[in-house]
Amino acid sequence: MFGPKFKVGWDGFYINLRPFKREEMGYFADMFSSPRVHEYTLQSRGFTQQMEEKWFDKAQENEDVYWAIEPEGHGKVVGSTGIHDINSSNSCHTGIIICDPSWWGKGVASRAHVARTWYALTYLDRATIQSEVMIENLGSRKALERVGYHITGRNPRVRRSGGMYVDSFSLCLISPLWLTRLYPAGLPEEYAESVQKVRNTLDRAKEVVELL
Ligand SMILES: CC(C)(COP(=O)(O)OP(=O)(O)OC[C@H]1O[C@@H](n2cnc3c(N)ncnc32)[C@H](O)[C@@H]1OP(=O)(O)O)[C@@H](O)C(=O)NCCC(=O)NCCS
Repeated sequence: MFGPKFKVGWDGFYINLRPFKREEMGYFADMFSSPRVHEYTLQSRGFTQQMEEKWFDKAQENEDVYWAIEPEGHGKVVGSTGIHDINSSNSCHTGIIICDPSWWGKGVASRAHVARTWYALTYLDRATIQSEVMIENLGSRKALERVGYHITGRNPRVRRSGGMYVDSFSLCLISPLWLTRLYPAGLPEEYAESVQKVRNTLDRAKEVVELL
């Protein structure tokens, strides 16, 4: 399915998270075919309009939540973010790809993560959120840690980047709304700092996420 429409931002820079449109699949496929964009993802092929239209049709029916990311005033999609594997352990996985490199390093992921985390923990009532980043992907790791994900382990040579085998980090975010159930004996000290960051993210979301 597609996520509902949100506007999120601060310091004069806002992005919209919104459902994809079928008519932008050709444009998206072109950006999504760049090997630069996929240096740290699991994809290594090109994409056509037809492939993306098929994905669009399927995406409407499955339980994953997808958003198109559109910077306010830009008028075009620049990337995609989503919540996947929404499972009976009240967990899920998240991912993001900004396919237009001219928008990297401008705070798009930092903004998207605030709205996505808030949505996953409140609307979807997730107790935990998981993610994975290749260790060289500093921007992705930083954006995740900022909203409260913490590294739970290093996975040796489980991914490939540019033809080389590389390590990845597993990350997890613990919902402060679930602490009594998750940790009846009290939250382990090692998670205190990251859970506080999640609290800050949820507080911030109240100020910076607008329902459209
Ligand atoms: C990785 C990615 C999601 C980051 O998104 P972004 O919008 O560029 O990230 P932001 O601008 O919000 O930056 C997040 C933080 O990382 C830092 N950062 C961004 N790019 C960085 C880089 N290449 N190296 C080091 N730090 C970087 C930013 O300075 C910021 O830190 P700060 O808040 O302390 O200033 C984006 O570059 C992307 O989609 N890349 C291609 C696909 C991909 O790798 N997806 C993630 C797979 S796990």
